[in-house]
Amino acid sequence: MSATAPEIHRGLAGVVVDTTEISTVIQETNSLTYRGYPVQDLAARRSFEEVAHLLWFGELPDEGQLRDFQARERALRPLDRTTLELLARLPETCHPMDVLRTAVSFFGAEDPTEDDGSPAANRAKSLTLLAKLPTVVAAEQRRRRGLAPIPPDPGLGYAENFFHMCFGNVPDPDVVRCFEISLTLYAEHSFNASTFTARVVTSTLSDLYSAVTAAVGALKGPLHGGANEAVMHMLLEIGDPRRAEAWLDEALAAKRKIMGFGHRVYKHGDSRVPIMQDALDRLVARAADPEVTRLATLHAALRHAMANRKGIHPNLDYPAGLAYHLMGFDIPVFTPIFVMSRITGWTAHITEQLAHNALIRPLASYDGRDQRAVPGAA
Ligand code: ACO
Repeated sequence: MSATAPEIHRGLAGVVVDTTEISTVIQETNSLTYRGYPVQDLAARRSFEEVAHLLWFGELPDEGQLRDFQARERALRPLDRTTLELLARLPETCHPMDVLRTAVSFFGAEDPTEDDGSPAANRAKSLTLLAKLPTVVAAEQRRRRGLAPIPPDPGLGYAENFFHMCFGNVPDPDVVRCFEISLTLYAEHSFNASTFTARVVTSTLSDLYSAVTAAVGALKGPLHGGANEAVMHMLLEIGDPRRAEAWLDEALAAKRKIMGFGHRVYKHGDSRVPIMQDALDRLVARAADPEVTRLATLHAALRHAMANRKGIHPNLDYPAGLAYHLMGFDIPVFTPIFVMSRITGWTAHITEQLAHNALIRPLASYDGRDQRAVPGAA
């Protein structure tokens, strides 16, 4: 490398590309805050709708604001017949993330204000997506079981309504609470890959639906949101807690990435994990079922083995993956559930990017062939 070669930051590791007011990881305390509030306190004391309001408007809603926010969100939940027919035509072999990506793109094509990037128009689009995406995900969970969609119930909160649309009933409040905690924890995480994708698209002054469509694509990958599904596949593959260590040794020897472990930002443990693990422990305890206990024992055994072998800690996808399984969701909708939550963070970032826009366009250091003549050119 010559003396003038630029410093390369592969994967943008360690690069600070902009400022944000939305969230931050405080390294000294290993904690995450949304608009200044510790996420563990939000998860413990506030509903997901309140967290969505906080992320979008910068403040928790008062009673009147919350009522208004909930009324508007609930009114927007139903899908029209055209959308339901379009989604029903997609092959059942495609992943529900493909269905979601198509749905977001279709909502954009249908919206006559698609190109209006004003803050008010973008707020309306964000709320529409927050309200409609769970209806898409629930319909997809049912379609894969050969069942007709269940329309949303405007009398139910965001989390309760999702269970209702998936299963036709709402589980007891402890389960709904665990689910809502996962939504709050998944809602926002600064310049992660999918959020950054949304910001890159937005920085070209493209529209919100295009940015969210791209973000869904980025989240689908197993190094990012797809990891919560991969965790469950991995646990089912291992099967027996007594196999955890041997399985891990083989997987590490084969240079496999162990899903649900490691993080670009957290090197001493993901600040969200203790809260989600606590929620998972509650689900396991209330199930009182030997099969659930076996899975929980395996989950813990793999976590300990990974800490001993590699000193690498779980990320949020590790407890969330098993928690969603215990709540009864099918594995292919785990990452779409992540979307239902992260749509709040993505759209908050789209608004912020537009407010102080600079085209995101990094450089590359060329290491290809030297200039050469095209055969036949003079
Ligand atoms: N399994 C095995 N080894 C790992 C893992 C893992 N899950 N994570 C990190 N390592 C190892 C790497 O192999 C590397 O070792 P080396 O230095 O000997 O080559 C070292 O730890 C550093 O890892 P990097 O991959 O360089 O760290 P990076 O910051 O790029 O990766 C990532 C972060 C992609 C999340 C990685 O930890 C990973 O692939 N994890 C599994 C997928 C996953 O769970 N993703 C979810 C992320 S959280 C979220 O999206 C909510």
